[in-house]
Amino acid sequence: MNQALAPIQSCTELLSRIYLMEVEAAEIASAAYPGQFVMVRTGWGHDPLLRRPLSIHRTNGGQIAFLFNVVGRGTEWLAHRRQGDFLDLLGPLGKGFSIHPDSHHLLLVAGGMGIAPLVFLAQGALANGHSVTLLLGARTASLLYPKALLPPEVELVLVTEDGSAGKRGQVSDLVPDFSPKASQIFACGPVPLYQAMATQNQVRERPIQVSLEARMGCGLGACYGCTIKTRGGLKQVCKDGPVFELRDILWQEVRV
Ligand SMILES: Cc1cc2nc3c(=O)[nH]c(=O)nc-3n(C[C@H](O)[C@H](O)[C@H](O)COP(=O)(O)OP(=O)(O)OC[C@H]3O[C@@H](n4cnc5c(N)ncnc54)[C@H](O)[C@@H]3O)c2cc1C
Ligand code: FES
Repeated sequence: MNQALAPIQSCTELLSRIYLMEVEAAEIASAAYPGQFVMVRTGWGHDPLLRRPLSIHRTNGGQIAFLFNVVGRGTEWLAHRRQGDFLDLLGPLGKGFSIHPDSHHLLLVAGGMGIAPLVFLAQGALANGHSVTLLLGARTASLLYPKALLPPEVELVLVTEDGSAGKRGQVSDLVPDFSPKASQIFACGPVPLYQAMATQNQVRERPIQVSLEARMGCGLGACYGCTIKTRGGLKQVCKDGPVFELRDILWQEVRV
């Protein structure tokens, strides 16, 4: 884990209130693997006091990118940073996704901002010779992550709740159709996506790696603010996760 003062290369509003930020952070980039996150200081001095966790969206040489939604004070501050400003980062942190070397085909399921860590996963998987199908869901077409920013080899299937692009419905609706030919399944999205997958007959028996979000105080395993209940006992999302097996989580107990 490294602490870095990273110069910002770019910060652009990609979709409404969703920003793509690229920073130069060579030590974090070289140590990071998909599903890990960085604790970002989102203000000067101690306001706000706590760093905010953001997934590593993708890497490019010594660069890492974040994809973030403006939801409050910290992310609002981040959205106003410009090229040449510096970001105080701590990372990479947590246990990310793990791809078995003998897996041929990977199914990635992204609900809304859940696309954030899955682009890095797709990038790594394709580089290692796996094939990738991405089920990408959003409320409406204007909130869909741009296809042009995905690796071209990804097989992309779009779903929108209002039917304005791709199939109409929830991204979870498509998982039973695509899971049989997948060697491994990975998902990132809101808790209702995971709760839906956990009740699907053909799906819930499979090992599925999901990335969980929790409010985090320290990101380092010290404050116990991110503790959740699993079949294996209490776990800290920042240290034992954020990636967990879907079937290990007691979904009725999760409040994030
Ligand atoms: C491991 C991990 C990776 C994450 N990766 C990303 C990412 O790549 N892109 C991204 O946009 N967001 C990501 N998040 C969520 C992000 O950390 C929060 O949106 C951010 O901390 C909000 O900070 P804020 O100061 O803007 O909002 P605050 O003022 O702190 O909160 C504003 C609102 O957002 C809600 N909120 C705050 N933090 C969280 C959280 N952790 N989970 C759910 N709701 C929250 C609050 O309940 C409140 O309603 C991640 C969270 C975790 C735990
Ligand atoms: S955020 Fe402090 S223990 Fe996880």
